[in-house]
Amino acid sequence: MKTSAVFAIAALLSTATAEDFQGSDHPLEYDHEPINYSTAKPADPVSALQAKIAAGEVTLAWDEKFGYLPALLDAFRIPRSSQMLVFSKTSLQRKAISPDNPRSIYFNDDVYLGYIPGAPVMEISSVDPQIGGTFYFLEQEKVRKPKFTRSADCLSCHGGQRSLGVPGHFVRSVPTEKDGELIGLEEIRDITQCSPLKDRWAGWYVTGRHGSQFHRGNLIGPEDLGKFKREPNFRGNLTDLAQFFDQDKYIARGSDIGALMILEHQVHMHNYIARLNIEARMMLAAYGHIRYMRSQVDAFLRYLLFTEEQPLAQPIEGSPDFAKAFTAGAIRDSKGRSLRDLDFKTRMFKHPCSFLIYSPAFDAMAPPIKEVLLKKLHEILTGKNQDAQFEKLPAADRTAILEILRETKKGLPDYWKG
Ligand code: HEC
Repeated sequence: MKTSAVFAIAALLSTATAEDFQGSDHPLEYDHEPINYSTAKPADPVSALQAKIAAGEVTLAWDEKFGYLPALLDAFRIPRSSQMLVFSKTSLQRKAISPDNPRSIYFNDDVYLGYIPGAPVMEISSVDPQIGGTFYFLEQEKVRKPKFTRSADCLSCHGGQRSLGVPGHFVRSVPTEKDGELIGLEEIRDITQCSPLKDRWAGWYVTGRHGSQFHRGNLIGPEDLGKFKREPNFRGNLTDLAQFFDQDKYIARGSDIGALMILEHQVHMHNYIARLNIEARMMLAAYGHIRYMRSQVDAFLRYLLFTEEQPLAQPIEGSPDFAKAFTAGAIRDSKGRSLRDLDFKTRMFKHPCSFLIYSPAFDAMAPPIKEVLLKKLHEILTGKNQDAQFEKLPAADRTAILEILRETKKGLPDYWKG
């Protein structure tokens, strides 16, 4: 064996976590057959909009203050109330980001927009049902037909272990110096729905109420981080950010705690969907079957059903506008229930099964893996599966989710029907 290979294996073993042993986050070779990430023609919301612009069906209005931001929010129907602000210097345009000029991020179910006041480009990512996250920039310059440029540069951060080894999205908690620069010795954490609140949001602004629970948002520089250790909530429960920067530079107010939590669920769920589909397609191409993917399927279902979600000790009160926008398009059953119904008292959702089960990416998964997933999901929801790994999902929740899906989810196999 080559020395480099030995080192690679040693490195893998020494940093291995439980997740690694389920085989669900080592980087996949998605730039080879059958995925061909870079050369594949995306069928994502950004490409669809680009085609409409090219055909003259859509024009993006230029705004003197925000450039293409308002037009893009409207074209993708992304609520302005989803605004979140991050001041750690953690993107391609790191120089433009600082605590008094944070990067704003807006999102809906399948598009993410990044806008920094004064920066030359907007960063946009979306979800393709077959190749995972797709990444683009758009120049902030008034032209007749604006053009989204796909960029491979983004994959150095968005194409590896942080996004489950496939092109995807993520949220990090990054303690910073006063200027937003990373503090070398402080721990950087990847955040999902499973992360304790106390570890979240270093490097981010956070607005909204969360009671005596605390988080690391709104802490700028070592002095704040030091004070936080003695008085954990001194920058908590803020509803306004006027003390930190000029809010008029942004199209909305605040950096909503509810939006942040939904984002954290959603980005990782998207990565799981992409991961499972891409891995399945690679296995099918190589071996003609997906028999080695059992633990990946289990990990996927645990995340889909929020079994390891961080419980809330006290209610979360975010922006009512965002909550309203988020639930506006909800698909409801005959009892009025939806997987988008928010709880935010003891957990995020009333019915803990990800709303992304309705997404085009979920539906487009390779049939053999989708078949296995749906079968196991059905066994869990009907109570036939009593595995310890799903035992935190109470019987009443299983029944409610089963009933909602039976009425609202299209294309379920016949055995799902009562
Ligand atoms: C140096 C690493 C790095 C590079 C390169 C990078 N990003 Fe990111 N990106 C991040 C981090 C870290 C986040 C999470 C938010 C944060 O902490 O700033 C993020 C978040 C995002 C988000 C919000 C959705 C999400 O995943 O949370 C978008 C949209 C985005 N990036 C687009 C892009 C695009 C488009 C490119 C390429 C033009 C790019 N990024 C290149 C580090 C990077």
